[in-house]
Amino acid sequence: MGPDVHFDWDPGTGRLGLADAIRDAIRKGRLSHGAVLPSTRALASDLGIARGTVTRIYADLTAEGYVHSRQGAPTTVAADVPRPSPPPHARSGPGAPRWDLRPGQPDLSAFPRDDWASATRRVLQHTPASLFGYGDRLGVARLRESLASYLARSRGVVADPQRIVVCGGFSHAVSLLTTALRELGETDIAFENPSLYRFRDIAKAAGARVIPVPVDDEGIDVSSVDSPAVVVTPAHHFPLGVTLAPGRRTALAKWASASGAFVLEDDYDGEFRFDRTPVGALQTLAPERVAYAGTVSKTLAPGLRLGWLVLPRVLVEPVRAALEWQGWRAPVIEQLTFAELLDSGAYGRHIRRRRASYRKRRDLLLATFPDAVAKHDIPAGLQLLLRLPPSGPREEDVLAAAARHSLGLEALGPHWMTPCDHPQGIVVGYTTPPEHAYTGALSALRTVLAEAGGAGRHP
Ligand SMILES: Cc1ncc(COP(=O)(O)O)c(C=O)c1O
Repeated sequence: MGPDVHFDWDPGTGRLGLADAIRDAIRKGRLSHGAVLPSTRALASDLGIARGTVTRIYADLTAEGYVHSRQGAPTTVAADVPRPSPPPHARSGPGAPRWDLRPGQPDLSAFPRDDWASATRRVLQHTPASLFGYGDRLGVARLRESLASYLARSRGVVADPQRIVVCGGFSHAVSLLTTALRELGETDIAFENPSLYRFRDIAKAAGARVIPVPVDDEGIDVSSVDSPAVVVTPAHHFPLGVTLAPGRRTALAKWASASGAFVLEDDYDGEFRFDRTPVGALQTLAPERVAYAGTVSKTLAPGLRLGWLVLPRVLVEPVRAALEWQGWRAPVIEQLTFAELLDSGAYGRHIRRRRASYRKRRDLLLATFPDAVAKHDIPAGLQLLLRLPPSGPREEDVLAAAARHSLGLEALGPHWMTPCDHPQGIVVGYTTPPEHAYTGALSALRTVLAEAGGAGRHP
């Protein structure tokens, strides 16, 4: 056996809990680079569990990049373990940076307050009091109908109200789907590598084992997917910015149909394509295998916490059960107000105005850093990856310079799931600042990159 290591493990949490305890010991540095883990036999006998359980945990940790294992050699802690999710930084109030180019938010100062206020007034005037009760667990019927026709029209989604669930954004969609799949006996969920770390953490917290799948210039490598479920961003990969190539879209839909696996399609910014009509949703190709998810977090405001799932029919009841356990229902007045916005055309008008503004911002960003953007990054969405050249600067140099200039930036690093020498980059959220602060934020970025030791030029 290797060293005598104590893991903070509660046997009631089972195999997943023990895996977490070992990850935790590595992340917190109690087991540092090169440290030898106990042999599977020794750990199993120490903890009074089956050796096969420990073998499986070590295999998972190897796949995730925490440890190295080789036939006949002891299992050791890897050099560059996956970083813990960064702590959230203040977006407003004390501690918020002067300039903010972190991804994840639309321009909140453009929230359509007047449209929202008049839609709310109409809802309050015309809705019978009986609708203000608990209502349908899956969401208010009127919103599910409005969403069905909006999504069919705008994204080609095969949507009937019976398979639509209104939820609290994509974060909630991930926890609902993970819970529903666990109920069906499936715990493995594949995620694109890289992908937004926050959703992987949510899936893990809901009991999933998260499996990394590589992404290249054509999107997720479909031939490497081998899990009962996979989460993808096909219209515009987060954070690399590529779109899923047509051949791979078809291959993914075919694979899901043939294997009986589920795909969770995160269509977080599908409304924002700047050069052409957006490609339709992947869900159209396999509506009984693809759960389509959308959100108002990029179109209106994340603070509304409103999103939707269009589900394969077999998942509707398991998701309803997950909603019951969570004791969750979307707020009725907000749902009705959003339906009013959709039906009145105000939502469509707002999106068209935002699209025009964001397109100009993206163009300006590209003009400022013309060589830092890879050719496969499509003109779409709310964020753009500035790729740092191999000669430097490195992400940490850029973040340190950004802190000195009170510029909020996010590195590509935390989005990777596995250690190794990944390309370096900064994920620029060009929609975050209000209009008047955008050029100031860009010049802060120019200063920061120059100070960090490079102009963000692509090799
Ligand atoms: C890749 C991606 N998907 C989805 C979302 C939306 O998440 P939510 O609807 O929980 O706000 C975001 C927001 O940052 C995102 O970056």
